[in-house]
Amino acid sequence: MPKIAVIGLGYVGLTTAAGLASLGHTVTGVDIDVGRVESLRAGTPPFFEHKLDELLAEQIESESLSFESSFSTLTREIEFAFLAVPTPALPDGQADLSYLNAALASLVSTIGTKFKAIVKSTVPVGTCRKLQESLSGYDIHVVSNPEFLSEGNAVRDFLAPSRIVVGSTDDNVGQGVLDLYDGIDAPRLVCSPESAEMIKHASNSFLAVKLSFVNELARFCEVTGANVDDVTQGVGLDPRIGPNFMSPGPGWGGSCFPKDTSELASSSRRSGTPMTTVEAAVASNQTAIMHVLELLREQLGGDLKGKQIAVWGLAFKANTDDTRDSPALQVAQRIIDEGGTVLGFDPMAKIPGNLKVKQTSTAIEACSQSQALVVLTEWPEFSTINPEEVKSVLQAPAAILDTRRILDQSVWRDAFPNFKVVGGN
Ligand code: NAD
Ligand code: UGA
Repeated sequence: MPKIAVIGLGYVGLTTAAGLASLGHTVTGVDIDVGRVESLRAGTPPFFEHKLDELLAEQIESESLSFESSFSTLTREIEFAFLAVPTPALPDGQADLSYLNAALASLVSTIGTKFKAIVKSTVPVGTCRKLQESLSGYDIHVVSNPEFLSEGNAVRDFLAPSRIVVGSTDDNVGQGVLDLYDGIDAPRLVCSPESAEMIKHASNSFLAVKLSFVNELARFCEVTGANVDDVTQGVGLDPRIGPNFMSPGPGWGGSCFPKDTSELASSSRRSGTPMTTVEAAVASNQTAIMHVLELLREQLGGDLKGKQIAVWGLAFKANTDDTRDSPALQVAQRIIDEGGTVLGFDPMAKIPGNLKVKQTSTAIEACSQSQALVVLTEWPEFSTINPEEVKSVLQAPAAILDTRRILDQSVWRDAFPNFKVVGGN
């Protein structure tokens, strides 16, 4: 079996490392964050990801997975090095490739000049070819192998992915990378590095466009009296459209959709072929977040100044503790900017230090003496809370705003006449 290194042990790298080890490979995970590596050696994942702790424990126990904080420990036996480092957005929307360049340079200076560099990080179209050109004279192949996992389902998505895409300029090398996934039953696509990179950006952007469409549709439903749940169900029954990614919300967020849509919008415009649908989806997403504020203001008599507001949900979606680019935090920050105070509760996520929100240890505690409650993340447990219990601690007459449509509308409206949902009743 070839020896594998995975560079960067975040959501993608750690899942990839543990997943490849479970397929029978010997994998060394490398991360420059010493604390992260120490906690991984002790078997503790640095973030919550469903079933990842179990998979890690099994692979560490079987000695097929180990962790290093220094590249210098890697040997020249490494044949495949996966790169799963961050590619955040720069202020102009382009991707910051400095982490990727640094990781690749560290590999070249340690494991030598004969290996396959497999780019799992999401990168602008053309990146792998440029990296390949910068390594001319070496026996290093740069391959694109984009990752499609979604947080909360990372392990499932690794073991049963929708597809495995490999972009390579060399068919044998491409096949060699595909072979690493033997044991996984999924559609496989081998193509050029440019196509693989484009597939990744196009997939995320298409989903973001779909969600912006749904969020605008929800607002139109609000003013027309149409029921958005019935509408999305009816629309989604067309197999060409499908039922997934049809839930309206406070706007889409997370560590990927915002940065990947910005990158595609900005690079397509620079190429003279602007993807205006993606630009529109990005702009529309801001209006979705602002709409939550508008509804809240309406419910609270015109402004938020001096109002205490309970927020249920801080993570960018349910089943993760990730708050990167979370619409919930953006709404909380705007409430504060408008003179309100926020008490926030999330079953898993922690409030980042720069946000002046008081985090409570229960959902009910966040409501204590608050004048409004806004539901921003679709944690299933929120829908099981008794509205009468909430009523007993909120200041009367309280307003409730459910941006995720997870509360039972008839029951909550009985308890709270000032009850609203994004997308209308
Ligand atoms: P992350 O921030 O969770 O983890 C990245 C890790 O890389 C960190 O632990 C960091 O310490 C480490 N790192 C940074 N520079 C390094 C270096 N030079 N050498 C070794 N380690 C280094 O990131 P993530 O969410 O796993 O995303 C990684 C990439 O995968 C990004 O390009 C992202 O767009 C893409 N992606 C993410 C997801 C997702 O759901 N999070 C899904 C698909 C693709
Ligand atoms: C997304 C993609 O789904 C993954 O395929 C991709 O690999 C990943 O980005 C990436 O490139 O990082 P993720 O960011 O984990 O995964 O989250 P999603 O489940 O896609 O949700 C993104 C946002 O859309 C969240 O804010 C979520 O609340 C919102 N959303 C999603 C809705 O508002 N409604 C929906 O019906 C679905």
